[in-house]
Amino acid sequence: MAKITKLLLASHNRGKLKEMTEMLKPFRIEVVSAADLNLPDVEETGSTFEENARLKAETLAKMSGFVCLADDSGLCVDCLQGRPGVYSARYAPNRDFDKGMDMLLKEIEATGDKKRSAHFACVLALADPNGKTQIFEGRVDGHIQPNKTGDKGFGYDPIFVPDGFGKSFAEMEAEEKAKVSHRGRAMEKFIAYLQTGTV
Ligand code: IMP
Repeated sequence: MAKITKLLLASHNRGKLKEMTEMLKPFRIEVVSAADLNLPDVEETGSTFEENARLKAETLAKMSGFVCLADDSGLCVDCLQGRPGVYSARYAPNRDFDKGMDMLLKEIEATGDKKRSAHFACVLALADPNGKTQIFEGRVDGHIQPNKTGDKGFGYDPIFVPDGFGKSFAEMEAEEKAKVSHRGRAMEKFIAYLQTGTV
Protein backbone atom coordinates (compact mmCIF):
# COMPACT_ATOMS: atom_id res chain seq x y z
CA MET A 1 0.00 0.00 0.00
CA ALA A 2 1.44 3.44 -0.92
CA LYS A 3 2.20 6.07 1.76
CA ILE A 4 -1.03 7.34 3.27
CA THR A 5 -1.48 11.13 3.40
CA LYS A 6 -5.28 11.28 3.50
CA LEU A 7 -7.48 8.83 5.38
CA LEU A 8 -11.23 8.35 5.42
CA LEU A 9 -12.61 7.11 8.75
CA ALA A 10 -15.64 4.93 7.98
CA SER A 11 -17.71 5.72 11.04
CA HIS A 12 -20.58 7.94 12.08
CA ASN A 13 -19.98 7.13 15.76
CA ARG A 14 -18.74 10.39 17.34
CA GLY A 15 -17.05 8.63 20.27
CA LYS A 16 -14.98 6.40 17.99
CA LEU A 17 -14.15 9.23 15.58
CA LYS A 18 -12.93 11.42 18.42
CA GLU A 19 -10.68 8.68 19.81
CA MET A 20 -9.24 7.71 16.43
CA THR A 21 -8.67 11.31 15.27
CA GLU A 22 -6.86 12.03 18.58
CA MET A 23 -4.64 8.95 18.14
CA LEU A 24 -3.71 10.01 14.58
CA LYS A 25 -2.82 13.61 15.52
CA PRO A 26 0.97 13.10 15.76
CA PHE A 27 1.07 11.82 12.14
CA ARG A 28 0.88 13.92 9.01
CA ILE A 29 -2.38 12.50 7.78
CA GLU A 30 -5.44 14.48 6.77
CA VAL A 31 -8.41 12.75 8.37
CA VAL A 32 -11.94 12.98 6.95
CA SER A 33 -15.03 11.20 8.21
CA ALA A 34 -17.83 9.46 6.30
CA ALA A 35 -20.17 12.24 7.46
CA ASP A 36 -17.80 14.95 6.09
CA LEU A 37 -18.16 13.36 2.63
CA ASN A 38 -21.89 12.64 3.00
CA LEU A 39 -21.22 8.94 2.68
CA PRO A 40 -23.89 6.54 3.98
CA ASP A 41 -23.71 4.29 7.04
CA VAL A 42 -22.83 0.82 5.70
CA GLU A 43 -25.16 -1.88 7.01
CA GLU A 44 -23.30 -4.38 9.21
CA THR A 45 -24.48 -7.68 7.76
CA GLY A 46 -21.44 -9.74 8.82
CA SER A 47 -21.38 -12.15 11.76
CA THR A 48 -17.85 -11.27 12.98
CA PHE A 49 -16.05 -8.02 13.80
CA GLU A 50 -13.64 -8.68 10.92
CA GLU A 51 -16.39 -9.24 8.36
CA ASN A 52 -18.12 -5.99 9.35
CA ALA A 53 -14.90 -3.95 9.46
CA ARG A 54 -13.92 -5.24 5.98
CA LEU A 55 -17.39 -4.55 4.62
CA LYS A 56 -17.39 -0.93 5.87
CA ALA A 57 -13.81 -0.14 4.79
CA GLU A 58 -14.02 -1.76 1.35
CA THR A 59 -17.44 -0.30 0.49
CA LEU A 60 -16.48 3.27 1.44
CA ALA A 61 -12.99 3.07 -0.13
CA LYS A 62 -14.63 2.11 -3.44
CA MET A 63 -17.34 4.78 -3.15
CA SER A 64 -14.95 7.60 -2.23
CA GLY A 65 -11.68 6.69 -3.97
CA PHE A 66 -9.82 7.27 -0.65
CA VAL A 67 -7.93 4.85 1.57
CA CYS A 68 -10.43 4.02 4.28
CA LEU A 69 -10.08 2.82 7.88
CA ALA A 70 -13.09 1.15 9.50
CA ASP A 71 -13.49 -0.01 13.08
CA ASP A 72 -15.87 -2.71 14.17
CA SER A 73 -15.90 -3.25 17.87
CA GLY A 74 -18.03 -4.41 20.75
CA LEU A 75 -18.37 -5.74 24.25
CA CYS A 76 -18.30 -9.52 24.79
CA VAL A 77 -19.56 -10.79 28.18
CA ASP A 78 -18.47 -14.33 29.12
CA CYS A 79 -21.54 -15.32 31.17
CA LEU A 80 -23.70 -14.22 28.20
CA GLN A 81 -21.72 -16.41 25.79
CA GLY A 82 -19.98 -13.39 24.26
CA ARG A 83 -23.06 -11.23 23.78
CA PRO A 84 -23.78 -8.47 22.84
CA GLY A 85 -20.58 -8.80 20.72
CA VAL A 86 -21.09 -7.68 17.13
CA TYR A 87 -24.58 -6.49 18.15
CA SER A 88 -23.29 -4.09 20.85
CA ALA A 89 -24.53 -0.95 19.06
CA ARG A 90 -27.91 -2.51 18.21
CA TYR A 91 -28.42 -4.03 21.70
CA ALA A 92 -29.12 -0.56 23.13
CA PRO A 93 -32.69 0.53 22.21
CA ASN A 94 -32.43 3.51 19.81
CA ARG A 95 -28.71 3.65 20.69
CA ASP A 96 -29.64 4.73 24.23
CA PHE A 97 -26.63 3.24 26.02
CA ASP A 98 -27.87 4.28 29.45
CA LYS A 99 -30.84 1.94 28.90
CA GLY A 100 -28.63 -0.60 27.15
CA MET A 101 -26.30 -0.75 30.18
CA ASP A 102 -29.28 -1.23 32.55
CA MET A 103 -30.54 -4.11 30.37
CA LEU A 104 -27.10 -5.69 30.27
CA LEU A 105 -26.62 -5.37 34.06
CA LYS A 106 -29.98 -7.10 34.60
CA GLU A 107 -29.07 -9.93 32.24
CA ILE A 108 -25.73 -10.45 33.99
CA GLU A 109 -27.38 -10.40 37.48
CA ALA A 110 -29.84 -13.05 36.31
CA THR A 111 -27.03 -15.48 35.44
CA GLY A 112 -25.70 -15.34 39.05
CA ASP A 113 -22.14 -15.18 37.68
CA LYS A 114 -19.76 -13.65 40.21
CA LYS A 115 -16.72 -13.06 37.99
CA ARG A 116 -18.58 -10.96 35.42
CA SER A 117 -15.59 -11.24 33.11
CA ALA A 118 -15.80 -9.53 29.72
CA HIS A 119 -13.66 -8.04 27.00
CA PHE A 120 -13.87 -5.32 24.42
CA ALA A 121 -12.70 -6.31 20.94
CA CYS A 122 -11.79 -4.08 18.03
CA VAL A 123 -10.96 -4.99 14.45
CA LEU A 124 -9.66 -2.27 12.16
CA ALA A 125 -9.76 -2.78 8.41
CA LEU A 126 -7.65 -0.57 6.17
CA ALA A 127 -8.85 -0.74 2.57
CA ASP A 128 -7.41 0.95 -0.47
CA PRO A 129 -9.73 1.67 -3.41
CA ASN A 130 -7.82 -0.88 -5.53
CA GLY A 131 -9.06 -3.71 -3.37
CA LYS A 132 -6.20 -4.39 -0.93
CA THR A 133 -7.18 -4.70 2.74
CA GLN A 134 -5.11 -5.00 5.94
CA ILE A 135 -6.52 -6.09 9.30
CA PHE A 136 -5.39 -4.96 12.79
CA GLU A 137 -6.89 -6.36 16.00
CA GLY A 138 -6.99 -5.26 19.63
CA ARG A 139 -8.58 -6.60 22.80
CA VAL A 140 -8.83 -5.56 26.44
CA ASP A 141 -9.94 -7.92 29.22
CA GLY A 142 -11.79 -6.84 32.32
CA HIS A 143 -15.11 -7.20 34.13
CA ILE A 144 -18.54 -5.60 34.26
CA GLN A 145 -19.10 -3.75 37.52
CA PRO A 146 -22.61 -3.72 39.07
CA ASN A 147 -23.06 0.07 38.74
CA LYS A 148 -22.22 2.78 36.24
CA THR A 149 -19.41 5.14 37.20
CA GLY A 150 -17.81 8.06 35.35
CA ASP A 151 -19.02 10.36 32.59
CA LYS A 152 -16.19 10.28 30.05
CA GLY A 153 -15.92 8.14 26.93
CA PHE A 154 -18.98 6.62 25.24
CA GLY A 155 -21.10 3.49 24.88
CA TYR A 156 -20.57 0.89 27.62
CA ASP A 157 -17.55 2.68 29.19
CA PRO A 158 -19.28 3.37 32.57
CA ILE A 159 -19.68 -0.36 33.40
CA PHE A 160 -16.40 -1.78 32.05
CA VAL A 161 -13.38 -2.03 34.37
CA PRO A 162 -10.18 -3.12 32.60
CA ASP A 163 -7.94 -5.66 34.40
CA GLY A 164 -5.36 -3.96 36.62
CA PHE A 165 -7.48 -0.84 37.18
CA GLY A 166 -9.88 0.05 39.99
CA LYS A 167 -12.02 2.29 37.79
CA SER A 168 -14.19 2.16 34.70
CA PHE A 169 -13.21 3.37 31.21
CA ALA A 170 -15.63 6.29 31.75
CA GLU A 171 -13.49 7.47 34.69
CA MET A 172 -10.33 7.61 32.58
CA GLU A 173 -8.93 10.48 30.56
CA ALA A 174 -8.78 9.75 26.81
CA GLU A 175 -5.00 9.18 26.84
CA GLU A 176 -5.20 6.74 29.74
CA LYS A 177 -7.99 4.74 28.06
CA ALA A 178 -6.13 4.76 24.72
CA LYS A 179 -3.07 3.09 26.29
CA VAL A 180 -5.01 -0.03 27.29
CA SER A 181 -8.16 -0.07 25.21
CA HIS A 182 -9.01 -2.51 22.40
CA ARG A 183 -9.11 0.41 19.93
CA GLY A 184 -5.84 1.86 21.26
CA ARG A 185 -4.12 -1.51 20.84
CA ALA A 186 -5.47 -2.03 17.31
CA MET A 187 -4.51 1.57 16.41
CA GLU A 188 -0.97 0.95 17.74
CA LYS A 189 -0.62 -1.88 15.22
CA PHE A 190 -2.07 0.31 12.46
CA ILE A 191 0.36 3.13 13.32
CA ALA A 192 3.31 0.70 13.34
CA TYR A 193 2.18 -0.40 9.87
CA LEU A 194 2.02 3.25 8.72
CA GLN A 195 5.55 3.83 9.92
CA THR A 196 7.24 0.66 8.76
CA GLY A 197 4.96 -0.79 6.11
CA THR A 198 4.89 -4.06 8.06
CA VAL A 199 2.70 -5.38 10.87
P1 IMP B 1 -20.10 -0.66 15.80
O1 IMP B 1 -18.65 -1.09 15.74
O2 IMP B 1 -20.35 0.59 15.06
O3 IMP B 1 -21.01 -1.80 15.50
O4 IMP B 1 -20.39 -0.25 17.31
C1 IMP B 1 -19.80 -0.91 18.35
C2 IMP B 1 -20.50 -0.57 19.65
O5 IMP B 1 -19.76 -1.23 20.68
C3 IMP B 1 -20.49 0.89 19.99
O6 IMP B 1 -21.65 1.56 19.57
C4 IMP B 1 -20.42 0.86 21.52
O7 IMP B 1 -21.69 0.67 22.02
C5 IMP B 1 -19.62 -0.40 21.79
N1 IMP B 1 -18.22 -0.01 21.96
C6 IMP B 1 -17.18 -0.21 21.10
N2 IMP B 1 -16.05 0.32 21.59
C7 IMP B 1 -16.38 0.87 22.77
C8 IMP B 1 -15.62 1.60 23.75
O8 IMP B 1 -14.43 1.88 23.62
N3 IMP B 1 -16.31 1.98 24.83
C9 IMP B 1 -17.62 1.72 25.02
N4 IMP B 1 -18.38 1.09 24.15
C10 IMP B 1 -17.75 0.66 23.02
